[in-house]
Amino acid sequence: MNFKTIEWRGDRVRLLDQRRLPGEVCYFDCRDPSSLARAIQGMAIRGAPAIGVAASMGIALAAQKLHTHNLEVFLKNLKKVCQQMRQTRPTAVNLFWAVNRMERLLDRTRSFSIEEIKAKLEDEALQIYKEDLQINRKIGENGKRLIKDRDGVLTHCNAGGLATAGFGTALGVIQAAWTEGKRFHVFVDETRPLLQGSRLTAWELAQEKIPATVLTDNMAGWLMKNGKINLIIVGADRIARNGDTANKIGTYGLAILAKYHGVPFYVAAPTSTLDRSLPSGEQIPIEERSAEEVTHLRGKRITPKGIKAYNPAFDVTPHSLIHGIITEKGIAREPFHKNFKKMFTK
Ligand code: MRU
Repeated sequence: MNFKTIEWRGDRVRLLDQRRLPGEVCYFDCRDPSSLARAIQGMAIRGAPAIGVAASMGIALAAQKLHTHNLEVFLKNLKKVCQQMRQTRPTAVNLFWAVNRMERLLDRTRSFSIEEIKAKLEDEALQIYKEDLQINRKIGENGKRLIKDRDGVLTHCNAGGLATAGFGTALGVIQAAWTEGKRFHVFVDETRPLLQGSRLTAWELAQEKIPATVLTDNMAGWLMKNGKINLIIVGADRIARNGDTANKIGTYGLAILAKYHGVPFYVAAPTSTLDRSLPSGEQIPIEERSAEEVTHLRGKRITPKGIKAYNPAFDVTPHSLIHGIITEKGIAREPFHKNFKKMFTK
């Protein structure tokens, strides 16, 4: 992986601008928490684990930039920044998981000096970043045996290094199998409306020289019918206790097609994507983004003026359509609620 999705630089956070890929590889610096919040909202950085890392760095950055000797004022301001980060995007639970982790640290450090709290927040954000990288490598190791030589493996959206601190979840499994010497072909759904598949996943696979073919989102069923796809692996934004999984819009349709054609459908995600407060996917909040993302393609209108467009960014795949959820603690299978419990007590 010869890019850095996100980088802590002491007094600023450097992001790879994912809106401009694959045409331009350019980085930009966020020097305050508001610019990081805008970058998350505007999808310069996206993907569940990556926005969790970005939010935690945003809080650490806010602490660096606060010049006050009054602990109450300092803490009050940082709580506001935590809230600002929570409001950026609603579906990916990793964002809330990371912000809560930073906030818990803040609550534990009330007896420390402001300078000490600043240092602890920075350490925690860097720790979240490092852990994400390690976890993704474990997900890759745990999932790679699912891929066989000559398989056709389909993925949707981008669950690669760009969506995480590095290595990726679904793409991490693909990468680990490839590095082990398995030879297979990856099919990449282009993923309308923002094209995370054809722009980002295809870009990552091309760099790794893993053979890949981009499909428009309506082609997968036909390829499954013709035996070209043997396995589907996608990422996740939030997983409920019963295994219901929110991921990029279009995932649900793929899972139904997979069931009909007998193709195994797997989700790859860190356990931080599991929302144990939710019994089922019914309660997962689904982000609705602007209609303009559908009516326009890279700034150019592609629908008649005045026409309406609907833009839910995610859908929920019921657990009954999921063969297994590949995590850093192993592969969870039905009944997910019981097996998740076991995973957390190990
Ligand atoms: O809207 P995005 O691009 O943030 O959506 C990303 C996805 O749906 C990914 O599949 C998911 O976050 C998993 S990333 C490891």
